[in-house]
Amino acid sequence: MFKYTCLNPIADVGLNNLTDEYTKTDDFAEADAVLVRSAAMHDMELSDNLCAVARAGAGVNNIPLDKCADKGIVVFNTPGANANGVKELFVTGMLLAARDVVGGIEWAKENADNENISKDMEKAKKQFAGTELMGKKIGVIGLGAIGVLVANVANRMKMDVYGVDPFLSVNNALSLSRDVKIVKSYEEIYKNCDYITIHVPLLEDTKGMLNKEAFDKMKDGVVILNMARDTLVNDDDMKAALESGKVAKYVTDFPNPAVMKMPNVIATPHLGASTAESEDNCAVMAVDEIRNYMENGN
Ligand code: MLT
Repeated sequence: MFKYTCLNPIADVGLNNLTDEYTKTDDFAEADAVLVRSAAMHDMELSDNLCAVARAGAGVNNIPLDKCADKGIVVFNTPGANANGVKELFVTGMLLAARDVVGGIEWAKENADNENISKDMEKAKKQFAGTELMGKKIGVIGLGAIGVLVANVANRMKMDVYGVDPFLSVNNALSLSRDVKIVKSYEEIYKNCDYITIHVPLLEDTKGMLNKEAFDKMKDGVVILNMARDTLVNDDDMKAALESGKVAKYVTDFPNPAVMKMPNVIATPHLGASTAESEDNCAVMAVDEIRNYMENGN
């Protein structure tokens, strides 16, 4: 009989795959297996009976990997399971950066009773005029499961797509549209691209990688998108770049107090994987991993 606990809500479609051999406990200390989404586990005491942790998501920066390794606790994640949800939020964010749809919607609500709406609409059309994505250069930093989907959708939107990943796998390279230009250095992305989107894991090497030094190499008025992790971007440097206009817009899936109130920031509360489909996919994959490991040891 295995005991498991969920540190965050995990979709039933996954939990239903657990057989009668599993019972749920709310007591972390007695669990053999843990299912977790974004809850931070770094300060938690890991008990001797804990065998496996499954992160229902891609990033494992909320898991104490070293402590788990020392105690022989195996850690799984669910790469790719929520990639489509993140890709679709990326598309939404990029379109919102190019077109002031939110401003337009607010304007329409405010003007519901405006008797001169037809006349005033001419002003609004100028005020909310945007730009098109077709033909713009976009650089995708990190070509993992999400980066590949992002690069391919940008290509289908007829953008000129550049990608960089020092650890690009053969499978991911083969999944890329042949129009995506793979470059060898971040600098090639920085100097060429109108839009730059980052899809790398948060590691010692990547923390703060979008900083002043990187911004200085970018085109004036670049648009930056970050659906990956907040601290990949240096807050102070981003604030300065937004103030100077070096970065025209920052689209981030993190409600970062240092910048989120700025007019040229579009921030959301980490919604990338918050779709019914992504939550189901992650739950199913995470539960399968736990079951395979507990029952077959792999
Ligand atoms: C991930 O790393 O995949 C995301 O953080 C998913 C989530 O929101 O749980």
